[in-house]
Amino acid sequence: MTDREVLAFDLYGTLVDPIAISGELGRVLGDADGAEAARLWRAKQLEYSFRLTAMGRYEDFRWVTARALDFALASTGARLPEEEAERLVGLYDHLRPFPDAVPALRALAGLGYELAVLSNGTPAMIGNCLASSGLGGFLGDRISVDEVRVFKPSPVVYWHAAGRLSRPAGQVRLVTSNAFDCAGASAAGMRTAWVNRSAAPFDTIGQPPDLTVPALDRLPAALAD
Ligand code: LAC
Repeated sequence: MTDREVLAFDLYGTLVDPIAISGELGRVLGDADGAEAARLWRAKQLEYSFRLTAMGRYEDFRWVTARALDFALASTGARLPEEEAERLVGLYDHLRPFPDAVPALRALAGLGYELAVLSNGTPAMIGNCLASSGLGGFLGDRISVDEVRVFKPSPVVYWHAAGRLSRPAGQVRLVTSNAFDCAGASAAGMRTAWVNRSAAPFDTIGQPPDLTVPALDRLPAALAD
């Protein structure tokens, strides 16, 4: 069993849904602005993480998430009291799992796979999110980029994760719905599985995924092929 690959799961967008927050933003901002703000919030959160890494700077993902929300609110013209903005950032601790997440993790654990999380989130964000979503029991190692203070897709992140899992990078498969994450893991020598729930085209830079599934619960069968 020890030379079997470890499956390392991305968290936001793969196991839990950050865009589902739009319901809550809709209650605060109105439905149309809420959906747009949720989309912008997530896009800016990732962009800021890339930009900090390119600048050789680090601020943790909760800070990045808060600054991205400030931008999303400013672009929709919304002004909120500080406590309300803090409450919205706190929603990241209670994101809903995608419906395919629990069945997939249960099946993979039953097949004897070692399952881990590798996320941009801080250790506290990861711990809170896994506890509230009910996914925590399936996932042993929880690896945060905070341990190396750079964000995905720096290769430092993936090499650090392989070290934490006591495996060469080639014996770890990153499971992610984020194409940039998939390409980053490949560039660092990991195997990959891309969860493409929206039938989107893959990015046009980077190594294509080793495996593509339309939903997480298709992963056990795809890995067996
Ligand atoms: C994460 C981001 C990339 O969980 O979704 O690492």
